[in-house]
Amino acid sequence: MENKKRIMSGMRPTGKLHLGHYLGVLKNWVKLQNEYDCYFSIADWHALTTKYNETNSMVQNVKDVILDWLGCGIDPDKSTVYLQSLVPQTAQLHIYLSMITPQNWVERDPTLKDLAKIMKDKQENMSNLSYGLFGYPVLMTADILSFNAHLVPVGIDQVAHVELSRDIARRFNNIYNCEYFIEPEPKLTEIPLLKGLDGNKMGKSFNNDIKISDSAEITEKKIKTGITDRNRIRKDDKGNPDNCEVIYDYWKIFSDDEEQKEICEACKCASIGCAECKKRLAKKINSSLAQIRDKRLEYEKNQALVDDILHQGSKKAQVKAQEVLDGAVEVIKMYK
Ligand code: TRP
Ligand code: SF4
Repeated sequence: MENKKRIMSGMRPTGKLHLGHYLGVLKNWVKLQNEYDCYFSIADWHALTTKYNETNSMVQNVKDVILDWLGCGIDPDKSTVYLQSLVPQTAQLHIYLSMITPQNWVERDPTLKDLAKIMKDKQENMSNLSYGLFGYPVLMTADILSFNAHLVPVGIDQVAHVELSRDIARRFNNIYNCEYFIEPEPKLTEIPLLKGLDGNKMGKSFNNDIKISDSAEITEKKIKTGITDRNRIRKDDKGNPDNCEVIYDYWKIFSDDEEQKEICEACKCASIGCAECKKRLAKKINSSLAQIRDKRLEYEKNQALVDDILHQGSKKAQVKAQEVLDGAVEVIKMYK
């Protein structure tokens, strides 16, 4: 354990996760936990940066995320799975980091600009952006540096944040004349981009997603709404999978070459109709998720166990974060 490199990553609890999260993030985390000492955080403070006035669903959202993680195979015996707000050491480290972070560094963070835009689009003007939102990348840095992590697996949209974390770590080391913090590196994941059922980006706010936790029936119903080759109107029209942006795309992700070829040929000669094709795809997706969904349901029936996992994981995270914090406080030369 000790000689393994450390990985830190997190997700904001915004509700039940969808297949994009599974394929793009969780599947990768599950692999990484065998090779690295992993810390995975449910970033509830980060959720508050934009949803500070929508907290009624916070508890449920946290529960849904941990259930999705466990169902997908995040293993609390291998990884440290924790809730950000249960590790106050990160907030303390955040204070110290916020002192040394130049204001213009956070202001030019492009991801933050995107977040600010989302807030703005919600009819709120820029001056209503909270102090906490501006601290978003610094708080994320505190998450990562709390464990002195080497690597941060993230999607492309988060890379700018991690670059800033590197800058802050380096600045800390320069200012206090030490080599205390490791400069964390983003670890880009190759994401098979899964479109939403309507052809746009999959996302819960677009109502075009399939949840990890959806039942087989709901999955089938949703897939029925998926976009197909628009030129194929009747069943005996010949189709073209290349123009079938959503359904055939899913086939490419969920089946092997042989089956793809079979579907492709059947579509081209109209020996299979779109309704039948979707039915088969739903079956395919459902069978590849069956184990995950069963496991999730098992955990869901045992909420006490799930709470215990999150509390135990947070305790474990506290121990490491305290050790790192103590070292930082020492380097800064605070009164003890
Ligand atoms: N900001 C990340 C996101 O929205 C979530 C996150 C919080 C995170 N803390 C982190 C990711 C630390 C990596 C490392 O997806
Ligand atoms: Fe798409 Fe399948 Fe219809 Fe062909 S048969 S257009 S691959 S849904």
